[in-house]
Amino acid sequence: MEDINIIIIDREGEEHKVLAPTDMNMNLMEVCKSYELPVEGTCGGMALCSTCHCYIKTEHDLPEMSEDEEDMLDQAFFVEENSRLGCQIPITVDLEGLIIELAPTSL
Ligand code: FES
Repeated sequence: MEDINIIIIDREGEEHKVLAPTDMNMNLMEVCKSYELPVEGTCGGMALCSTCHCYIKTEHDLPEMSEDEEDMLDQAFFVEENSRLGCQIPITVDLEGLIIELAPTSL
């Protein structure tokens, strides 16, 4: 198994190039946390808090949104066309080169 390259743009506009393992059952929220980026992941990845809200800046094929994710994004702030919940996106080899930006927090 291999690591993939992901770029995460933080809320100050700074780019972080990170390596994400594809064989550890991780999702994007957990990758952000493991690099100590300011993503709370309060609900632990259950699509219940939207603290992992991010914008997808590339055209990667992502898993369809579940109803839970859609419902949560309906209640989130600063939602855009390319909004997703990071915790609902598992790290796979297909995500090589993914670029995401952390959405502003609601406070
Ligand atoms: Fe709570 Fe993603 S960590 S919705």
